[in-house]
This record gives sequence, structure tokens and C-alpha cells, in this order.
Amino acid sequence: MAVTIQKLLQCKQQGRPIVALTAWDYALAQVIDQAGVDIVLVGDSLAMVALGYETTLPVTLEEMLHHAKAVQRGVQQALVVCDLPFLSYQESPQQALHAAGRVLKEAGAQAVKLEGGYPALAETVSRLVQTGIPVMGHVGLTPQSVRQLGGYRKQGKSPDSAEKIISEAIALEAAGAFAIVLEHIPADLAMQITKKLSIPTIGVGAGPHCDGQVLVTADLLGLSAWQPPFAKLYATLRQDITQAVQQFSAEVREHQFPPGE
Ligand code: KIV
Repeated sequence: MAVTIQKLLQCKQQGRPIVALTAWDYALAQVIDQAGVDIVLVGDSLAMVALGYETTLPVTLEEMLHHAKAVQRGVQQALVVCDLPFLSYQESPQQALHAAGRVLKEAGAQAVKLEGGYPALAETVSRLVQTGIPVMGHVGLTPQSVRQLGGYRKQGKSPDSAEKIISEAIALEAAGAFAIVLEHIPADLAMQITKKLSIPTIGVGAGPHCDGQVLVTADLLGLSAWQPPFAKLYATLRQDITQAVQQFSAEVREHQFPPGE
């Protein structure tokens, strides 16, 4: 049965961990969906892992839509959530509505994800939700603010910063978000937030007490040139692909491939 936002809420209520992974194209989306994840996230990390940008800042709404359409074609069961890219939603609720509407109408995704929780954003989330667009929040380390944060550093380490993240998460829940990503914050802060909220928290580098976990799939598969400290390698695709390409190259150069008839 297809995953819905209601089912994710039940997962939290029943203590069943939610599994989420990112995807940026049809083939990857099909494989991870068939492997049984609950959420396929078209994360704007695709800017770095699929498009070669240095940060997530340059990726455009058009590029996100292009990738989200391909992902959506590969997914049958999981809930497809698509990130709204930097500066496609911060200006006004109307701008966010336009961008999120395109993600649902043109790409067929079921929900959007926005970073941050400052007061104006809670208003935007509320507007989207009232229009029938499910929204996932994202607090803690918000990569679209990397220039302001001075790098991909753990957030919420000081009492003030922890308080800010807690109040952002509460504001997002009050605005109607159906789940919140907690990125790179201390595990005990993530636990506090998870206990306070009735919507699920999905952790990435936020310890084991969240209601679910998400990773950038390139990090899990060993496809990224660089992995964040909290990622775990479950495969070594960079090495495997290199080896396969070298073997193919050698066989072509030595006239072993294709085999003679
Ligand atoms: O862009 C992304 O891949 C994300 C995840 C790390 C949650 O936002």
C-alpha cells in the first residue's frame, strides 16, 4: 500500500521507525522504492551529488522539477517529497505557493520540504498546508544557510541555539508541517524535540532517538567523493564502478570484449 502522511504519523504513534533516502533519477528511485523505503526525498543535495555544484545554493526550481519528474516515474509505493530550492520560497507565501504548486502539479510529488523555521516561514508553511500542500520542515543544520553558518557545522550546541531549534520545530508543527527533518544536532536535543512533537522527526546526523532516519543515498552507497561524519557506508560503489570501468577498458584494449563469434 502506498505510503501516506497519515501512515507516517501512525509510525510515530506505534514506535515504528521511518526510513527515508534521497534520489535524483529514475533508476535510483525505482531501486530504493522497490527495496521498501517509506519516503523518497528529492533532496536539493542533488545539486552536489548529481550536478556537481559546490553547495545546494545554485540549484534552480527548474532543475529540481526535472529530477523530481524522473524520480516520481520510478516510485510506486513511497511518499515522494521534493525540496524547494534556495530562493524559491523565502520571498513570500505566494512565491512558495507557486513553487510548491509546480512541484505537485508538474512533477507529481506528494509533498515539499522547506528549510528553516523563522516566523515568516511558519506563515508560509501554514499557507501551503491550508492550500492542501503537505510540508516537511527542516531545522538544525540547514545547508541553504551554509554561507551564514560558516560551514556544515553541528548546530544546537549552545543553550541559545538549542532553544532556537526547539522553538522553530514547535512553530513548524503548529503551522501544520507533517514531519520535520532534524539535521546535525546533538542526539539529546533531537530526543527532546522528538518527545515534544506529535509529528514525526526524521534525523540525519541527529542521533538514534528520532522517529526516522534519512541519508543522502550517494553517501550510503559510497558514491560521494566526500561523506559527512554521520554517514555510514553500506556499499562502495565508487570503487566498484572504477573497477568495472577499468576492467571494461582493459578488455576492449586487449581485444577481449566483445568476444569473437
Ligand atoms: O537535500 C537533502 O538531501 C536533504 C537531506 C539531507 C535531509 O535535505
